[in-house]
Amino acid sequence: MKKTIRAVLAVLLCLTLLFTVSGTSTFADDGEVKPIEPEGKTPFRISVSMNGDSQTQRGFCWYTAEDCDSVVEITDASGSAVNAQCEASSFEWEGYYAHKVTVSGLSAGETYQYRVGDGETFSDYGTFVTDDGDSSFSFIEIADVQATPLENFLKAALTVDAAFETLPEAEFIVNCGDFTNDSTNEEWNCYDTAFGKINQSTTTVPVAGNHDGFGVEHWFNNMFNLDTSESVQVNDGVNYSFDYGNAHIAVLNTNDMMCMTLAQMQWLKNDMNSTSKDWKIAFMHKSPYTLGKDGKWPDALYLGKSLTKVFDMCDVDLVMSGHDHMYLRTKPLTNNRVDEKNGVTYVLSGTAGTKRYEIREFLAGFYLNTGFIDALTIQKNGYANYWNGEDWNSTKDTNIGGCFNTVTVDGGTLTVKSYIRCDETGEVNEIDSFSVTKETGKNKATFSGDNTTSEFEYYLSLVPSFLCLTVYAFGEWLPKFLIDLPYILYVVITQDTF
Ligand SMILES: [Fe+2]
Repeated sequence: MKKTIRAVLAVLLCLTLLFTVSGTSTFADDGEVKPIEPEGKTPFRISVSMNGDSQTQRGFCWYTAEDCDSVVEITDASGSAVNAQCEASSFEWEGYYAHKVTVSGLSAGETYQYRVGDGETFSDYGTFVTDDGDSSFSFIEIADVQATPLENFLKAALTVDAAFETLPEAEFIVNCGDFTNDSTNEEWNCYDTAFGKINQSTTTVPVAGNHDGFGVEHWFNNMFNLDTSESVQVNDGVNYSFDYGNAHIAVLNTNDMMCMTLAQMQWLKNDMNSTSKDWKIAFMHKSPYTLGKDGKWPDALYLGKSLTKVFDMCDVDLVMSGHDHMYLRTKPLTNNRVDEKNGVTYVLSGTAGTKRYEIREFLAGFYLNTGFIDALTIQKNGYANYWNGEDWNSTKDTNIGGCFNTVTVDGGTLTVKSYIRCDETGEVNEIDSFSVTKETGKNKATFSGDNTTSEFEYYLSLVPSFLCLTVYAFGEWLPKFLIDLPYILYVVITQDTF
């Protein structure tokens, strides 16, 4: 009953904020939305991130054009001020001032309102809920907004609005990376213009994409306030984990040395072995199982030879990723074989944005065993669910749109539903749904103790990590690529896709 009341309160607050918060975007005389123009001490790019204990802590991050103090004011559902502990810091980044405040001492299962500012100038009110610790919760997952002009950010935001309308009780949103295309001030301001209200209405679990951190160092870590205490490095992304309900959730950084160092894999192994939670879920940007354009490159494919072994070893249930801008769900896999009983299910999220990829036919059966695929939806040329093996490009108009996924955990049942919001009509269509069930209370923690990686240990791990990747790239991937090259060239010439 308490949970229902809390859910209703949270939904009402979220909807109120979504429709009433004025946001920071500006409108031209013709009603056209213009990118925000940061000025003075007015906060912008506001986000609330999962940071440490999901029942009692949150990480706030925002920016101002002028240097000023960092203050978060929080009230509970009754409107009473909350006296939480705040740890604040600020620093200059790319011409603006970033503010990070980590709040602890919150109560489990509460709906909070907050505003950020310097003590005099404040943002509009936002809201978030804390984990009540029981085994029933739900969240939204998206990936690959990767927009450049404001117009495409706004279209992607319509998809995410549709996600919250579909699952208003969602307690947080996971973004599997590639927030922008080039990580510039201009793009992040467009992202904020389109997503500001959404970001202020929930808790975000951000995942570093290659466009957020690879070659644009520090952007990701400077845009969110995350628990970096166990991150193997924080230059081009962050790896972290947290408990939510009866699940343990790990967020990986696939920018780490092109894809994944041995240090991060060791961290993941220890991290997943340190929990006795019923469900083990991982989020990362690059996907080892894909039929998109990146499915031919050694970085993501290497994950299928290395990282997936850790998932197998640690009895991970679900891995969600992005990067290849199409929807693909595998059958449960163990050691790259179908294992319906104990395998790991991999979901490659379709893109929430407008940049969508076709199937690369030369990958099917050669780079990816098509027997692994349980569901597939291409957002560019259509096709719903698993295809007949011949027709790759039969268009289904309702599939031409932005994709989002909902995940619901209810005790021993985990359900993922995937949807596309049709560009043309705005109609939301379910494209896939699956459930996993298990007996709860069976997982045992087998690791305890320190799971941090010193800088020295990290750099030491780069040598064997690089050797492993090199051996794979030249010993396994390159010969395969050369054998497939004539077919690849044929497809390039006849279909103009690579
Ligand atoms: Fe990507």
